[in-house]
Amino acid sequence: MKRSSVKELLHSDKFLQEVHVKGWVRTFRSNRFIALNDGSTINNIQCVVDFENTDEELLKRITTSAAVSITGTLVESEGKGQNVEVKVTKLEILGDSNPDEYPIQPKKHSLEFLRENAHLRIRTNTFSAVMRVRSALSFGVHKYFQENGFNYVNTPIITGSDAEGAGEMFHVSNFETNKAPLNEEGNIDYTKDFFGKETNLTVSGQLEAETYAMALGKVYTFGPTFRAENSNTTRHLAEFWMIEPEVAFNDLDANMDLSEDFIKSVLGYVLENCKDDLEFLDNRLTQEEKSKPQAERSDMGLIEKLNFVAENNFKRVSYTEAFDILRNCKPNKKKKFQFPITEWGVDLQSEHERYLVEKHFKCPVILFDYPATIKAFYMRLNDDGKTVRAMDVLFPGIGEMVGGSQREERLDVLKSKMAELNIDEEELWWYLDTRKFGTAVHSGFGLGFERLVLFTTGMSNIRDVIPFPRTPQNAEF
Ligand code: 4AD
Ligand code: MG
Repeated sequence: MKRSSVKELLHSDKFLQEVHVKGWVRTFRSNRFIALNDGSTINNIQCVVDFENTDEELLKRITTSAAVSITGTLVESEGKGQNVEVKVTKLEILGDSNPDEYPIQPKKHSLEFLRENAHLRIRTNTFSAVMRVRSALSFGVHKYFQENGFNYVNTPIITGSDAEGAGEMFHVSNFETNKAPLNEEGNIDYTKDFFGKETNLTVSGQLEAETYAMALGKVYTFGPTFRAENSNTTRHLAEFWMIEPEVAFNDLDANMDLSEDFIKSVLGYVLENCKDDLEFLDNRLTQEEKSKPQAERSDMGLIEKLNFVAENNFKRVSYTEAFDILRNCKPNKKKKFQFPITEWGVDLQSEHERYLVEKHFKCPVILFDYPATIKAFYMRLNDDGKTVRAMDVLFPGIGEMVGGSQREERLDVLKSKMAELNIDEEELWWYLDTRKFGTAVHSGFGLGFERLVLFTTGMSNIRDVIPFPRTPQNAEF
């Protein structure tokens, strides 16, 4: 007999028909009511066991997280809380679960505890909701780009270049530790390593994506990226997924338009397609907020906030304007910032970004035209000679969601910038070729996928929106 999903059954009106379903027991109460879940939806289906005619040994094996196969009749439910239920005619235990050993009890566990059990936390309502939303977001990302004429490009994970120039790379080597051959100067001789050169895990697919945009016009990447920065924050992972569109002939304004349209479209997709999960997460967040002091509580619910972002314009502000706002703001004057805003040119910290977004503008903000000295080598220099065509999209509760720019398309300007920063032209000969052969204005950005999932689900720690987080001192599972 064809197996139905719990989701299908909950939406079905095939009353009195025989149905077949498999899943895991969430709870079993009064020796009668199984709440069954199979991951297809946050909701469980109630399966009612005829306990008088069921073997006692079998009843004992219906424990939380046991895998079961159920055949029965779909009926309208008389009980509260559900419309349909299954009257069990045949029950088979597919996999037992010892309740004395199973760590996830049907009660509230701390997120920290669940993180230590990341292989089982997905069996909770919160994590199953988060991960279904994550999956839908990722589909929404592909849908947006595919429907708008973009080609999906898979850029390499192992590279020889440091796109961001921040030196936060994980090395990739096939040498045995302590047995790496040395050259005449006493340094490790990478010419003898697997790739014949020093390599690392990519921090961004941008440079390679740029070469593809110069032929395919509109491209995007969506893949894993790695950063060996030692930041133990709720916003940083050592391994995260980044989405990087790159578009030939787009200037910075078009790039800002694209980022805004893209984010709104993806949020719209989940608002439409993840209603049950978002409602659950909305309630969860409301409960969390109640434990916070009044002043720190958000005045919007999760779904309300997502709708607000999807429907309202992002505020666009230059770095210089933002700098003035920050320099004159109360927390700066009262020396409340850990990093005081004093001189034009300072890099903005997350406390500043969050002030702008959460206190001043109260909506997503796109900051643009940053000082050249705090941004990467590939960004296009403005005519003022001191700012570059950079843009960051800042989000409430998150800070930086997107970093992007119009790229420096002028070979001579790019070369002199590289010389200034001691970036070897020979290393990036292929990148420079794009500026030699049919160079054109082009722009792109990178969106940290987990930060988007964080915002969309209302979770507060980035470790809770990726299945198996990689952070300093932690690579379990
Ligand atoms: O601002 P970033 O460093 O920009 C780039 O890598 C550019 N090459 C992108 C481009 O123009 N194609 O990183 C982009 C985004 C950030 O805005 C942030 O959302 C996310 O990636 N991000 C991280 N997310 C999680 N953990 C980390 N350690 C992250 N570092 C950056
Ligand atoms: Mg950035």
